[in-house]
Amino acid sequence: MAYSNFAAWWTNVLLVSLTINGYYPQPLYAAPSTRTTTAKPVFTMPASADQGALLLPNIKDPDRVNAQDLCPGYLASDVKETTHGFSARLSLAGEACNVYGTDVESLDLTVEYQSKDRLNVNIVPTHIDSSNRSHYILSEDLVPKPKPDEHAKVTDHKPDLDFSWSNEPSFSFKVTRKSTGDVLFDTQGTVLVFENQFVEFTSSLPQNHNLYGLGERIHGLRLAKNFTATIYAADVGDPVDTNLYGSHPFYLDTRYFEVQEDGELVPMADEEHDTSRKYVSYSHGVFLRNAHGHEILLQPDSLTWRTLGGSIDLYFYSGPSQPEVTKSFQLSAIGLPPLQQYYTFGFHQCRWGYKNWAELEQLVSDFRKFEIPLETVWSDIDFMRGYRDFTFDAVNYPIEEGKKFLSGLHEKGLHWIPMVDAAIYIPNPEDPSDAYATYERGNASDVWLRNPDGTVYIGAVWPGYTVFPDLLAANAQEWWTMELKEFFESAPYDGLWIDMNEVSSFCVGSCGSNNLTLNPVHPSFQLPGEPGNVIYDYPEGFNITNATEAASASSASSAQEASKTATMPPPSTTTSPEYLRTTPTPGVRNVNHPPYVINHVQGDLAVHAVSPNATHVDGTLEYDIHNLYGHQLINATYHGLLSLFPNKRPFVLGRSTFSGSGKWTAHWGGDNQSRWAYMFFSIPQALSFSLFGIPMFGVDTCGFNGNSDEELCNRWMQLSAFFPFYRNHNVLSAIPQEPYIWSSVIEASKKAMAIRYALLPYIYTLFHQAHTIGSTVMRALAWEFPNDPSLASADRQFLLGPSLMVVPVLQPQATTVDGVFPGIADGEIWYDWYTQTLFDAVAGKNTTIDAPLGHIPVYVRGGSILPMQEPALTTREVRNSPWSLLVALDGKAKAEGHLYVDDGESVEPESTLSVHFTVENNRLHAVSDGTYEDKNSLDKITILGADLGSSPCHVVLNGQEIPGQLVSYNQTSRVLAVTGLKEFTKGRCAWDEGWVLKW
Ligand code: GLC
Repeated sequence: MAYSNFAAWWTNVLLVSLTINGYYPQPLYAAPSTRTTTAKPVFTMPASADQGALLLPNIKDPDRVNAQDLCPGYLASDVKETTHGFSARLSLAGEACNVYGTDVESLDLTVEYQSKDRLNVNIVPTHIDSSNRSHYILSEDLVPKPKPDEHAKVTDHKPDLDFSWSNEPSFSFKVTRKSTGDVLFDTQGTVLVFENQFVEFTSSLPQNHNLYGLGERIHGLRLAKNFTATIYAADVGDPVDTNLYGSHPFYLDTRYFEVQEDGELVPMADEEHDTSRKYVSYSHGVFLRNAHGHEILLQPDSLTWRTLGGSIDLYFYSGPSQPEVTKSFQLSAIGLPPLQQYYTFGFHQCRWGYKNWAELEQLVSDFRKFEIPLETVWSDIDFMRGYRDFTFDAVNYPIEEGKKFLSGLHEKGLHWIPMVDAAIYIPNPEDPSDAYATYERGNASDVWLRNPDGTVYIGAVWPGYTVFPDLLAANAQEWWTMELKEFFESAPYDGLWIDMNEVSSFCVGSCGSNNLTLNPVHPSFQLPGEPGNVIYDYPEGFNITNATEAASASSASSAQEASKTATMPPPSTTTSPEYLRTTPTPGVRNVNHPPYVINHVQGDLAVHAVSPNATHVDGTLEYDIHNLYGHQLINATYHGLLSLFPNKRPFVLGRSTFSGSGKWTAHWGGDNQSRWAYMFFSIPQALSFSLFGIPMFGVDTCGFNGNSDEELCNRWMQLSAFFPFYRNHNVLSAIPQEPYIWSSVIEASKKAMAIRYALLPYIYTLFHQAHTIGSTVMRALAWEFPNDPSLASADRQFLLGPSLMVVPVLQPQATTVDGVFPGIADGEIWYDWYTQTLFDAVAGKNTTIDAPLGHIPVYVRGGSILPMQEPALTTREVRNSPWSLLVALDGKAKAEGHLYVDDGESVEPESTLSVHFTVENNRLHAVSDGTYEDKNSLDKITILGADLGSSPCHVVLNGQEIPGQLVSYNQTSRVLAVTGLKEFTKGRCAWDEGWVLKW
């Protein structure tokens, strides 16, 4: 199948090319090359500072011990009925195995039917001695536990999930979907392993399973069936298939069944479905509320979940559809996403390497010159004084000039979002001129992470040696809020970009403890643009489309390679590696080198991150809550902004996230590459974040690492125009890639942006629905068309809300793209956005679509009504423009749609407006509800698929016939268009009262 193979194919292309370019699997790091704050030579940290122990991941270790062979499992006893289910005691069924930690002798099992679609299976040690920190259970203060629905007793709400268990030969459990008898989870035949540093349970999986989620990672949408998903927050430039920045221990499992004549459901045998047969799907979700490092071993017939500690706190969501699973997961566990400020849906321009305010000013005027919409200018670390948060470089980014720039920007209706890194620079104690107020204030508030011996933990990030806020410290929130306040007072920002919050540190351990007098120091690696580390990588296909440039780039790159090799030390003679192996010590944890080695992209847990033994104020070790660091900083930032501006929706863009971060933050896909494969991977990454409850997602458009080129940037600017968060961002010293750099990209961007900006009311309404009921914004085809098994892995096209389908070109040199048009066999119809006519596609087959460079195929689903306004250069102008409706009739000449409007920024708007549109019997009804006064008039209504035959066309609005010159109907295309309505309605506001349009 074309779809299932696509991700694998791209992965291969990518692995080959990235290996050739030497980028994979090395993380690519960089920082600006010049320092304006000091004249003395800057000490460069040695590379060895970021080298950890040599570890062999367990899954790659030929000598690994299988806990299943050695561990005794548990036996259940003492079963007691409870309000929502039952509890039991689990006791070790034999001699402790202590394979990767110390076995817990006695466990408490609690099973709760929490609501009609949710079951909780909770297994925790019976005795936890918190004083010796030999076991950590996730605190409810950090990650709230879903609670049983109020008044919900098992007998009242009849859940569709059934939990059963057995002691033969040792404790196992099974979760079954009662309505179909389908077994969703079954640990029978395996043993439960529960140690202080290693928890393992295995479920068998039927052949017809399809798993999604378990992120964050660069992977196809559907998880491969022979694959190990590691979850451990890592600062790493987007390698394929590894753990990355975010931790989302949640999966969706969709199973397809063939419906027999008699209605019986038979699990689908394999991928080869037959279009003449009938299928249905059932989806359920599984969330493991555990913040330790995870490894989930996926096999065709089983799933083994391993964690480096904590408890088994599993939530099963019965769905039975993806929308139901996602809604319930958000409502019960992770929270609903905030409604974003309206402006955030405009276009964002960023890069690492904008040198000064003047360059930003020029950027704004260049966008104006080319009439390309621009909403927000972003500042990377370049503006800071020596990369210190909340400071401004006196030479290149003087504050006074900044204030002027920002006020001009705001007058134009534009916005500014600067970066804030997690780490805080610690000044050189011998250099009074190095004083740094943010550090001083944080120090006075006592808010830094510590070493186990109580001294402050000092790692390193861009500015040099740094400390790290301990967000569990009592004063941390207050201090952070004050810093955000002071920063705002010097430069009124419109949102904040939280980076490096994994939390990243460029050295192992508290490397700065005895080195502060060297500060500021340069990271141990070269940055893009620094001698010996020049970016010369171009997208695939560049040598064909840009032959001359490619030739010079390639000669430059070989020269650089040559000079690099000339200065490189001779290769050392190879000896067989000495891996560090940790033997468990009874009752004592080794947090820096746990006995079980997860397949972490950085190897040692302490590499490129704050070390696991860093200690929080209450004694909690980073080991136990590492995956929550980013989440907590986002939380502190969101709430800091909220307390400073109580009625303004905070806009936070965060890199490292955890389940639940979506209620505070937007997310970007991290440091991707300017490569075609990464443009493709942006789709499954975005769709996965729909499942994780972070709908405000986008990636670095045109690519971050490496140089982009005209063709890739052209396609990518168009694709990202249909992602919720739309930002172009680029690495330091790569060639520029703003949309005005290449002429074809100017046109392509304007074309796609005109569609996006016209659709802003539709996008905003989708976000309001996400915010209120937990529906997704970017949707996989399989979620909207759940009974078509051929869509199970479709991730080269997607839907924006229920009504728009995007089929982008994802390969170089293509002028066509193959797309599927789901639902056609069941009467679904699709209209081409551009021609407004019915698209002629064959059910269940790829249709080849013309897609020359600069054209992104977009389709409107029959049955939709899309509220729109006039495209403009800013969202402010769009919001003040006349309304139009695009009505796409379905096969029964019906359609429906919604519109939500408010002031676009208040947390609790004083007034709101909802409009419901329906079409039936050639009548379009608009029924509005709410008191928000939108001042714009209705101007245009376009009806696609209108069947008026050849009779003269009369269009009547609220009983008044619309003059013929305002109406046009094309019998061939079946497009009925009513224009110039704003004159006809004498400029009345569109939604003041309900109306009916009849034709
Ligand atoms: C990190 C961020 C990237 C940023 C860079 C410099 O790599 O992911 O977006 O440009 O740091 O601040």
